[in-house]
Amino acid sequence: MSTDSTARARLVADLVQEGRVRSPRVRAALEEVPRHLFLPELDPVTAYADEAVPIKSDGGVTVSSVSQPSMVAIMLEQLDVAAGHHVLEIGAGAGWNAGLLAHLVGPDGAVTTVDIDADLVAGARANLDAAGLDGVVTVTADGAVGHPPSAPYDRIELTVGSTGIRPEWVAQLAPGGRLLLPLTVRGSQLSIAFTRTEAGRLTSTSVRSCAFVRLRGAGAAPGAEEAVLPGGGWTVQAAVPQVDPATLRSLERAVREPGTDRPSPAPGSVSDLWDGLGLWCALADPAVVRLFGPAGPGPAAALFPVAGARAGLGLTGDDGCAVLLAEPAATIRAFGPGGDAAADRFAALVDGWLAAGSPHAADLRIDAVVPGVAGDAARGSAGNTGAGPAGDGAIIDSAGTRLTVSWASGGTAPSRDTA
Ligand SMILES: C[S@@+](CC[C@H](N)C(=O)[O-])C[C@H]1O[C@@H](n2cnc3c(N)ncnc32)[C@H](O)[C@@H]1O
Repeated sequence: MSTDSTARARLVADLVQEGRVRSPRVRAALEEVPRHLFLPELDPVTAYADEAVPIKSDGGVTVSSVSQPSMVAIMLEQLDVAAGHHVLEIGAGAGWNAGLLAHLVGPDGAVTTVDIDADLVAGARANLDAAGLDGVVTVTADGAVGHPPSAPYDRIELTVGSTGIRPEWVAQLAPGGRLLLPLTVRGSQLSIAFTRTEAGRLTSTSVRSCAFVRLRGAGAAPGAEEAVLPGGGWTVQAAVPQVDPATLRSLERAVREPGTDRPSPAPGSVSDLWDGLGLWCALADPAVVRLFGPAGPGPAAALFPVAGARAGLGLTGDDGCAVLLAEPAATIRAFGPGGDAAADRFAALVDGWLAAGSPHAADLRIDAVVPGVAGDAARGSAGNTGAGPAGDGAIIDSAGTRLTVSWASGGTAPSRDTA
């Protein structure tokens, strides 16, 4: 076996063992489509590390990458592609996932992949040709409007993050079709597989946590959910489109000053914290933020170690805030005059999550009503557009979709401000 084949076989075996790959069809696609041909600048063995590889940046920000194999596998399982399907991918990148899709649909199916950047599409085309996958149609276009010429599609997969569900994507689904996209819900990016139940209604069949670069063009988010603390170094990721200056001042205090500690029940592993408690808190209380600090010693060292950086959950209140620390183990630290009240709210959220059985993203169910789809059951019923409270516990995304989020453990996600 050649070096690249050995590295590929090892990667796939690991993905199977970790439960990322579940079906023989996805396994065969990953075994037979050579990822290293989509990363010609890397040596073949490096191309089989389970890591995303940035391939294009703009102003220091990554705008395209070859996705992480484990995430690609998770999403292909969510997508459930059958032989003969017509599939649209939005976000071609270097073309690797399009090649995997082509393998899955086989000779009787069709794959169209679009990317907003012509240079990326040219690269994807060349890579697909080098891999002998000439059945994929590559298109330079803004995927915000889908790709009407080849619609309808049995499957539409975005491999780029969106803050909203565009009606064009729903309208271009065939009956019984499935839309899979990384969608930001209250600041958390979730890979959600939706099936269409009526013209403008979707229901999730599978939800996972994910992290993708953001959609550019007409579907780009109107506002940023990220801000850097005034002192620099720390990034705040919030559930709302704009982080207000008072919140930033409050959090700045939290990462610089001593606070008052109180013990908290142990939330468990980093994945429990992030995909579980963090998601629970963000859905329950839009004042919850994620804090990402610089790696290394200093105040940051007391927070959760995530992906080489330091990170934590914060909750701001009137003139104070509370931060959940990993070290000392499971501690809620309160800052400022209003810190105790924020810490009480935080403690109640942790108790609620534990009482619900410590659910994760996979335990979520999300129903969506998408306005503006032709023959639309939802027309006029989601008149509230823009981010923010919907008045009935629903979350309104940036495209005006009304999302209703509930945990499998029962009931609608607890919500303190959406009533
Ligand atoms: C994470 S990369 C895609 C990864 C790729 N599918 C793979 O096989 O690894 C996301 C891609 O989405 C593209 N993109 C961003 N905004 C877009 C838009 N509005 N329409 C189409 N593609 C877009 C980016 O240029 C980037 O190449």
